[in-house]
Amino acid sequence: MPAADPARLVVLVSGAGTNLQALIDACGDPAYGARVVAVGADRDDIEGLARAERAGIPTFVRKVGQFSSREHWDLTLTESVAAFDPDVVVLAGFMKLVGSTFLRRFPDRVVNTHPALCPAFPGTSGPADALAYGVKVTGATLFVVDEGVDTGPIVAQVVVPVEDTDDVEALHERIKVAERRMLVDSVGRMAREGITVSGRRVRFGAPARAT
Ligand code: GAR
Repeated sequence: MPAADPARLVVLVSGAGTNLQALIDACGDPAYGARVVAVGADRDDIEGLARAERAGIPTFVRKVGQFSSREHWDLTLTESVAAFDPDVVVLAGFMKLVGSTFLRRFPDRVVNTHPALCPAFPGTSGPADALAYGVKVTGATLFVVDEGVDTGPIVAQVVVPVEDTDDVEALHERIKVAERRMLVDSVGRMAREGITVSGRRVRFGAPARAT
């Protein structure tokens, strides 16, 4: 049974926004228990923003270069996201590291999806790095964002085979099909059940109450 009020999702994007689209589509079902209340980006003219606009979702853009320092950008991004009172902040192909101000404001509520099996192949070229290394399986990871690069406690992972004929694009596309399913499934569970983070271990469900 979904909660009376759906969880409020703010999604940050930098590109095509296919993960965002999967979330928007899932939120069309009231039983999913969440809705996307805003989409933010670090750049203009991306399909991710166009997807939000087509769905009637408010958008905002905060570019690092518009600010006097990275910290100022982080503070402004924090306030822009906070204005929408999110229950969960989803970084879905957001190609910037959020800073400590942002993370302190939304503790254990910021998740990022990465196209590799963490802790392998962190950074912005996960599929290319996996292919170059010659691994036979890779995948995608949803994690609670911390101050490192793709180092946070892991919420969910999905495994994807690497085929002999793969180039980077083919591999990334196969990962993204599995990644979107994992993201939709996990964010829905976060919305409906919450998560509990204990050190590096994450489980779905609210923290046990002290009696
Ligand atoms: C996704 O595969 C996501 O994991 C990746 O960018 C893609 C965005 O696709 N993110 C990273 O590599 C972050 N390190 P989308 O814009 O179609 O959702």
